[in-house]
This record gives sequence, C-alpha cells and structure tokens, in this order.
Amino acid sequence: KRIIRIGLLGFGVVGQGVWKNIERNRSALEYRLGARLDITQVVVRDASKEREVQVPAESYSDDPARVVENSEVDIVCELMGGTGKALELTRRALEQGKIVVTANKALICEHGEELFQVARQHGGHYFFEASVAGGIPIIKTIREALVANRFKLIFGILNGTSNYILTRMEREGLSFDATLGDARQLGYVEADEALDLDGIDAAHKAVILAYLAHGKWVSLDQIVCEGIRDITGEDIEIAGQLGYKIKLLAVIARDFDLNKLSVRLHPALISKKEVIAGVDEVYNGVSVTGDVVGTTVLIGRGAGQDATSSSVISDIADAVFMLQGAPAPAISEEDEATYQKLADGLELA
Ligand code: NAP
Ligand code: HSE
Repeated sequence: KRIIRIGLLGFGVVGQGVWKNIERNRSALEYRLGARLDITQVVVRDASKEREVQVPAESYSDDPARVVENSEVDIVCELMGGTGKALELTRRALEQGKIVVTANKALICEHGEELFQVARQHGGHYFFEASVAGGIPIIKTIREALVANRFKLIFGILNGTSNYILTRMEREGLSFDATLGDARQLGYVEADEALDLDGIDAAHKAVILAYLAHGKWVSLDQIVCEGIRDITGEDIEIAGQLGYKIKLLAVIARDFDLNKLSVRLHPALISKKEVIAGVDEVYNGVSVTGDVVGTTVLIGRGAGQDATSSSVISDIADAVFMLQGAPAPAISEEDEATYQKLADGLELA
C-alpha cells in the first residue's frame, strides 16, 4: 500500500486535531484512500511547549525546512495561521510544486490571488476546504457539487466564535466577556481574537466565497465589515420580542442584470422563521441560491478541533487521490483568465 507522507506546519488546535483524527479513523481512511497516511514531520514555534499529543522526537522540530524543503514530504499542511511566516512557507512550498493544504483564511483572502498563481506556474496545488465554515464542505459544494449554477445569493453565518457568543448571550443572558473565555477554551477563537470579534475572520471567508462564486478578488477595505462587539443583551431581547434573532451575517449578492456584486459582513436582524436564524452555538450555516438548483442550505460546526480537522483531512484525501493518478482540475493561466473575465465590468454595490 502506498504511504503518503504528511508534514504539519503548526501543531495547535487544528494540527493536533488532524493527528488525532487520522489515528482515530486510520483503518477507514486506509480503506477509503487505498493509501496509508503517515505524519512524518511536525513543526512548531516552541518545541518545549506541553502538548496533548506526543510526537516522536525524530519527527518534531521548530525547523520549517524539515517540511517545506523535504523531498520526502508529499503533502504540506499549513496550520500555523497568520500572514507572515505562513505566507513565506506556503510560497516556498508551492514554488517547489508541492501540495499545500491550509485552514488559513486570512492568508487566502489577502494573498490567495498570488498563491494560486504561484501554484499554477510551478505545478503546485493549494487546497483550502477548512478555511471557510469549519466542517461544512462549502468550498467543494460551490466548486464541484453546484458547478452548474450562477450564484445569485450566498449568505449565512461564517464565524463560530461570534455565533457561540451571541447564542449564550441570548439563552443565558450572559455578557459578551463572560462567554468569550469559554469560546477560547473550546478552541474556537483565533490567536488574534479581534479577527473574530470585529468580523474580520468572517469577512475573510466571505471574500473567499465571493472569489469562488464570481471569479473576483475583493479586498477587505472595499467591503462593509462590522463585528459583534456593540451588540448588547438588550438588543438581543428586543429583537426576540419582535420575532427576530441577531446574527453576524455574511452576504454575497450578485445582480446579474446590473452586473453588480455586494459583499458585506455585519450583524443583522433575521426572522426566526428563516433556517439560518436557527443556527446557534458554534454552528455555521450557509444558504446558497443558484439559478439552476434553487436554494441549498448547509449547516455544521464552524470551528473547533474536530470539525476543522475533518475538512483538512478531506483535502488530504483529495490530494491522495491526485497523487494516485486521479485527474486534478488542471487550471492553466488561460483558464484562470477566462474565469476572471466572467467578472469583467462587475462592480461592487
Ligand atoms: P493555534 O492553536 O494557535 O496553533 C498554531 C500552531 O502554529 C502552533 O502549534 C504554533 O506553534 C504554530 N506556529 C505559529 N507560528 C509559527 C511559526 N512562525 N513557526 C512555526 N510554528 C508556528 O491555531 P489553530 O487554532 O490551530 O489555527 C491554525 C490555523 O487554522 C489558523 O490559520 C486558523 O485561522 C485556522 N482555523 C482554525 C480553526 C479553529 O477552530 N481553531 C478553524 C478553522 C481554521 P506553538 O504551539 O509552538 O506556538
Ligand atoms: N475563529 C474561527 C471561528 C475559526 O470562530 O469561526 C473557524 O474558522
């Protein structure tokens, strides 16, 4: 059986989740993939830190070259976060034609256009299912399952931390600060918590979905982005009395007649009758309306170790199929240019 060697850059909440869940379902994975997954290198910032998962000493270091410059690593998983070192290492790996799997939405939002280009030019591959909506397979849904459609409206809840906080404020009357600590304990919160609380993390995800759906890279400074810091218990109570919930919503709406695209992220009142209004706690929910299929709603855990590592492992699986000869979507510069042409003249509303 073929052995697929995986190098992890980062071994925090998500990295350790990938390790644990590959171990947990090892037999099923071997059966489904026809290959054995071996995590052969793990790179961290501080190798002396206590961790739940113990990695054999020979596989464990603070030297990224042991993953990125290692010809014996088949798949690089960037699970570090941030847009500094992660950018440098991702670029280096893709320049060598490597397969990189990531959960890093900030990096894709800010540098995706460049990184996908580097991948195309050097024969590398960049997979990012875990970057949007945790365990919900929204990237594959838009790219593959709903490929027949043009997308009029995609909206929903894309940040688990904010939704968890809003839910506990509503149900238990707790303050914002009282719930944030629990969200952190549960592994939902970004290393820089402002990303969650100011809506930036969900806006990063909205930008990625807007690109996938419409071929247009939008930058954060072009869109409305407001988080949940100013929402009070009283706001939630009054909304409830009127038949609404307050949710942090991402909206990606395209008017094909006027050729306008609106991408925004802000707290909104949503009728309790809407499916998305019932998406609580750490769950995310995405409603996708295509011109062919109509409306499809996906709901699932949007953050946390297991949900996120489920998506990372699904990308690893796609990479394994590709390494075993399944045709990968070979997107050339010409294909990319054609795709981006669909957004010609598309203005932001
Ligand atoms: P985390 O718990 O903070 O783990 C980050 C890991 O990266 C740590 O092991 C850290 O090493 C390592 N690291 C950071 N900077 C490094 C550097 N310069 N060199 C080497 N190693 C470095 O973060 P996480 O929650 O696992 O998130 C990882 C990524 O997944 C982020 O992009 C995040 O946005 C994304 N994500 C997270 C979730 C979630 O629910 N947590 C969900 C979806 C996506 P040390 O441990 O030694 O400090
Ligand atoms: N901090 C993010 C969230 C992690 O709460 O949604 C998942 O991307």
